[in-house]
Amino acid sequence: MALPTPSSVPVSYPRHVDELETPVVTVDLTTMERNIDEYAEIADEHDVRLRSHAKTHKIPELAHHQNEKTGGGIVCQTLSEAEVMAQNGIDDIYLSYMVVDERKLDRLVRLSEKLDSFVTTVDCEGNINPLQTVAEEHGERVDVVLEIDAGLNRVGTSGEQAVEMARYIDDQSALNLVGVMAFEGHVFGRDDVRTADKYETACMEIMDEVARTVDRIEDVGIEVDEVKVGSTATSRYSCRHPVVTEINPGMYMFNDANLVRGSPDVTKADCALSVLTTVISKPTSDRVVVDAGSKSISFDTGQDPIPVDSDVEYYNASEEHGWVDMSRAESDISVGDRLEFIPPHVCTTVNLHDTIVGVDGDDVREIWNVQARGKVR
Ligand SMILES: Cc1ncc(COP(=O)(O)O)c(C=O)c1O
Repeated sequence: MALPTPSSVPVSYPRHVDELETPVVTVDLTTMERNIDEYAEIADEHDVRLRSHAKTHKIPELAHHQNEKTGGGIVCQTLSEAEVMAQNGIDDIYLSYMVVDERKLDRLVRLSEKLDSFVTTVDCEGNINPLQTVAEEHGERVDVVLEIDAGLNRVGTSGEQAVEMARYIDDQSALNLVGVMAFEGHVFGRDDVRTADKYETACMEIMDEVARTVDRIEDVGIEVDEVKVGSTATSRYSCRHPVVTEINPGMYMFNDANLVRGSPDVTKADCALSVLTTVISKPTSDRVVVDAGSKSISFDTGQDPIPVDSDVEYYNASEEHGWVDMSRAESDISVGDRLEFIPPHVCTTVNLHDTIVGVDGDDVREIWNVQARGKVR
């Protein structure tokens, strides 16, 4: 990304991180670029398309940036997220989610008409039928992928039922089946999968099963052109399987504390995003309290943040307070000092903030509006 020079930053913007009011989410631009380049190289090496999941950042500028670097379009998880991206000029979107409400389907079909490329997701008659009805009313043919349950037991179909569903979609006049999607993100967090070898084996086993399903669908005469998979921890392995045509990681550009703890490929140094906080109280000699609690750091995964460059421990949060144990800190910490933490889960943390700030060292370079924040419909 071409970094603006300090002179192109409006005067009212803070120029230095010390001028930022806290709590604030900052993104180290150098690390972010390295993360994007690394995944782009993985995709290139294995000849798959890298279509990044914009649910992580919800920021059109970053979606454009990823798209320019990887050329693969973007993924959205909600219709309104996709609408925000489309309104901001993104013209190639895959919606990795099922939409069933008639009013929302009307929006979806309009979006499909507007964009150069739009694909949505289905997995059963209950979501195929209303989409077919609304698309037909619009006189539009909508591209869809069939979601295969790769073992997460969330949505998706499998085995013979997947073949039946592919046939069912194929019979719909207003739908065009372009392929399948199989999300194997549940491999991350499995206690028996901790090393790169284990990740590779687990992902390959799942992709073998996906390939068998694809074969069965093709055996009944239905072409499966696209096989989309992927999460940050797994798609670097899954993309080695010949059945895969596209990977959809989201968190990889920022990474987070959960990935540091659970992925063999992510270290603290790979985390581009952190939450800068200020110590607002020092109730005891070994405890300080910072101004970031659960309204600025998401704890949905049940894990704690990791300190960026101090030997403190963030161990508890209420809404606006963060409890920090400083009993092992080498240097003293006072009220007014700043502490920086890598959040446990980056996607849900970004979704708590109106803006996030791109930094180059201590210089503020970008202030992005999280435009699709709260866009859950
Ligand atoms: C269907 C789907 N694809 C891709 C992703 C991106 O995975 P990650 O957030 O691990 O990068 C997610 C995340 O939940 C997802 O649900």
